[in-house]
Amino acid sequence: MRPSRLRFINALIFGLPAFAVALLAVPAEAQERPLYLDAAQPLEARVDDLLSRLTLDEKVSLVHGDTLFTTPAIDRLGLPRRWMSDGPHGVREDVGANTFNPAGRTDDFTTCLPVGIALAATWNPAAAQAYGDVIGEEARKRGKDIMLGPSVNIMRTPLNGRNAEYLGEDPFLASRLTVSYIRAVQAHNVASCVKHFAANNQETRRGSINVEMNERTLREIYLPAFRAAVQEGGVWAVMGAYNKLRGQYCCENDYLLNHVLKGEWGFPGLVMSDWGGTHDTREAVLNGLDLEMGSRKPHLAEAFRDGLQKGEYPMAVLDDKVRRNLRVMFATHAFEVRPEGSINTSAHQQAARRVAEESVVLLKNASGALPLDPVKLTSIAVIGDDAVRLQAYGGDSARIKAFYEISPLEGILRRVGGNVNVTFSEGWRKDGDATALAARAVLAAKAADVTIVVAGLNRQRPFDCEGTDRKDLKLPYGQDALIQQVVQANPRTIVVLVSGGPVEMDAWLAQVPAVVQAWYGGMEAGTAIAGVLFGDVNPSGRLPCTFPKKLEDTPAFSGGARAYPGENGVEHYDEGLLVGYRWYDTKAVEPLFPFGFGLSYTSFTYSGLKLTAGSGPQGPVVSVEFEVTNTGERAGAEVAQVYVHQAKPGLPRPLRELKGFRKVFLKPGEKQTVSVPLGREAFAYYSPDQDGWVAEKDDFTISVGGSSRDLRLEGSFPLPQTTLEK
Ligand code: BGC
Repeated sequence: MRPSRLRFINALIFGLPAFAVALLAVPAEAQERPLYLDAAQPLEARVDDLLSRLTLDEKVSLVHGDTLFTTPAIDRLGLPRRWMSDGPHGVREDVGANTFNPAGRTDDFTTCLPVGIALAATWNPAAAQAYGDVIGEEARKRGKDIMLGPSVNIMRTPLNGRNAEYLGEDPFLASRLTVSYIRAVQAHNVASCVKHFAANNQETRRGSINVEMNERTLREIYLPAFRAAVQEGGVWAVMGAYNKLRGQYCCENDYLLNHVLKGEWGFPGLVMSDWGGTHDTREAVLNGLDLEMGSRKPHLAEAFRDGLQKGEYPMAVLDDKVRRNLRVMFATHAFEVRPEGSINTSAHQQAARRVAEESVVLLKNASGALPLDPVKLTSIAVIGDDAVRLQAYGGDSARIKAFYEISPLEGILRRVGGNVNVTFSEGWRKDGDATALAARAVLAAKAADVTIVVAGLNRQRPFDCEGTDRKDLKLPYGQDALIQQVVQANPRTIVVLVSGGPVEMDAWLAQVPAVVQAWYGGMEAGTAIAGVLFGDVNPSGRLPCTFPKKLEDTPAFSGGARAYPGENGVEHYDEGLLVGYRWYDTKAVEPLFPFGFGLSYTSFTYSGLKLTAGSGPQGPVVSVEFEVTNTGERAGAEVAQVYVHQAKPGLPRPLRELKGFRKVFLKPGEKQTVSVPLGREAFAYYSPDQDGWVAEKDDFTISVGGSSRDLRLEGSFPLPQTTLEK
């Protein structure tokens, strides 16, 4: 029936005035809808409109969590409840409203990707994109609005308990991966929250330690990944760190949040605290915090509202915080129906596997010990607790309730099928009889053609886990002695290291023919390890951090307790810019394995370096062009790395710095021309006096090669004029 007819009949039956009935009959879409619900309106107009409709209490409710991972809905305005979740390597299980204990759901198993340092070891922004894509897609399915990752703090000391979560020691490498990761997550209408801003480079006393470093170090080493996240990745949220910087807590740090992040970098999104990382209402209100999370008694709740009512804080401060929160909600389409997402798909599992495969670093391979040919083997002894230990549900906040997890042993078993006799021997146990366990492992090693020792750490305290740092770089629980005995019993012993960073190897490295660094490879770790061991995968991971010979060689160690882990509540980054390879190269300290290092089952040559000057204020200053050839018999990937050295800098600079890289996949015999553009920023350093980035008129050496210590091509490039960029 047509509406006019209906109105007429209604009027007849009920005797209502015709116009009233007419109003009721107007289709819903024609009724006036508030501007903020109209997705076609500009984002800022929607923010303004909704802001103008909120009461004081409603506004305040948006700047602190009501449970551990949510902020409340405002039903009368159709503003949805907002959900956050860890974390950097997948979507974490749901926990209780006010406890980190599992909520006990059965629908929160997810894809567990390799840890951050493994992602960094791929040296492949496309891998970071695939990684972020899985997280965004699964976050949607799980109904999460903000994902708490990526974690991008720089590896200052190999002892940091959270190094596994982070992206290594180099700001340029970390930046490139961060940007791809964030863009991919956010393409799914989920906000990324890059963390922990800034200088949260240790777990020891993280909640109180005051970090002191000079401005140049902050700008050149510890901030670039965050800046790239904001300015290139377009990240919508930033999490403040637990520690203090220059005397002020990072979640309430005027310099970091107001001055640098929001002022200089123009960050339009929201700053949230780390969980329980807010300490003072006034500082939090005025110094740039927009969302307080994880506090039992939030400072940005009643205390804030009371202060506003008493006129202690201008309303504009609250409005700015709310505006930032709303902006993120609109940007991620929280008011619209979003694509549903998907979880645990085979595509996600394939992505997890591929990233894991690309992350494995072959550290040593004497006389072709690897890859193993299963056809030529009758028996393999797999030794070590890490061969069977599941790692996904570890690391504390970064843990993942994985849909499944393939351990190294399972990966090996699946790969060799029933054709090879595989034995397993624990080798050590935390509280076990070390002598008896080692003796059994030695017997197993003697009886096998090949022995694979899976050694390393785990994702519990005090190893690769949030909350504590490692005490040293040694393999725990007598594993050094175990490896020594095993390799003595069977010289065909391969060591697979499972860890989030370097371990000392001097006790056995010379005796062992092959060593593989496998990190924590997520749910497909075992598949990736087996793939590399048996040659289905040609290793293409490269170290995103230097492996030192011993702890005493590491930069933060050089300054004593004052430099790490701090004295009297203060920590001085005395090594300054010389973090990671910048230290080893500048100070001529020989590393065990250098930054950027990793072997392959094939070989590569470099040739034909051409440096072509370009123009333009923003465009590339020089195009670095060269050829890489796969000279071996297997397909494989090389990570071509470009380092820059300045001849006579106005201020001292590290010997060389990574400014470009490209992962090149090549068939046997294939040659590819690689072109890496270097902009002026590749030549610039931060000048505290000039308060900006200065690229000086000077000669620069541009070196290209397969690691920071394997530079095959070198050219010189004169920068014609000095420029300063703020
Ligand atoms: C961690 C953060 C994490 C938060 C929420 C904190 O302990 O430092 O990285 O996102 O907990 O679980």
